[in-house]
Amino acid sequence: MLEVRKLCKSFGGLQVTRNVSFVLEPGERRVILGPNGAGKTTLFNQLVGTLTPSSGDILVQGRSVMGLSVSARAREGLSRSYQKNNLFEDLSVRENLMLAAAAGQGKARSIWRDSFRDAEVRETVREVAQQVALTDMLDMPVRSASYGSRRQLEVGLALATRPRILLMDEPTSGVGPTMIESFHRLLHSLPRELTVLIIEHDMDLAFDVADRITVLNFGEVVFEGTPDETRGNKVVRDIYLGDWQANA
Ligand SMILES: Nc1ncnc2c1ncn2[C@@H]1O[C@H](COP(=O)(O)OP(=O)(O)OP(=O)(O)O)[C@@H](O)[C@H]1O
Ligand SMILES: [Mg+2]
Repeated sequence: MLEVRKLCKSFGGLQVTRNVSFVLEPGERRVILGPNGAGKTTLFNQLVGTLTPSSGDILVQGRSVMGLSVSARAREGLSRSYQKNNLFEDLSVRENLMLAAAAGQGKARSIWRDSFRDAEVRETVREVAQQVALTDMLDMPVRSASYGSRRQLEVGLALATRPRILLMDEPTSGVGPTMIESFHRLLHSLPRELTVLIIEHDMDLAFDVADRITVLNFGEVVFEGTPDETRGNKVVRDIYLGDWQANA
């Protein structure tokens, strides 16, 4: 479904992605773990298309997406939510979701005129709002929504485009324990055929939702395996020693 081949990226003399390769099967839940500065967001940006790799290849369903823009990749089914909020502040939760749903259905050209009446768009908004637990907040302006709700909306925007592959960069960064718990539920409630790649700091989330875990350190894949294999791995333990003790 998603294949990354020997991806490399340097900023000047600093190599931040080193020969990164992995393959995601359709419907797989993959978590990419790594400490601060490991190169996770840099990798994410190359997948999304906001950053051009120095070398290597990225394939979606066997076809290279290297030359494609962010929106062209989205049309190939690759959708994402960011580590930082990227929302229309003055619009309501519903309007934000509508714009994403309309864009996902190729109706972007006449968004304002038709989206509010478009049955398919409205149905998508209703479904997604339920998935990300924002049904009660649909008419709230984004600017008055809590940080946690905004993070849920971020995921909702990505889902509203009806992606085949959902990419998320630290979806739980900065949110409290209750939100994290509801986020775990959200991930478990996603359609099983959706392929999901999550970049995370939080090992609990990785162990809870991942089919496989890839560990990045200094831009390099140092480990890949199931959650159980990851738990028992010495390299991973050394990298994460502090967190592991804290979580024990
Ligand atoms: N545009 C840039 N120019 C130069 N160096 C950069 C640039 N973007 C990132 N870096 C460097 O690349 C390395 C990896 O950064 P990146 O943001 O990908 O890490 P990360 O794993 O996402 O970290 P975090 O867990 O803090 O989000 C860091 O050393 C960072 O300083
Ligand atoms: Mg990051």
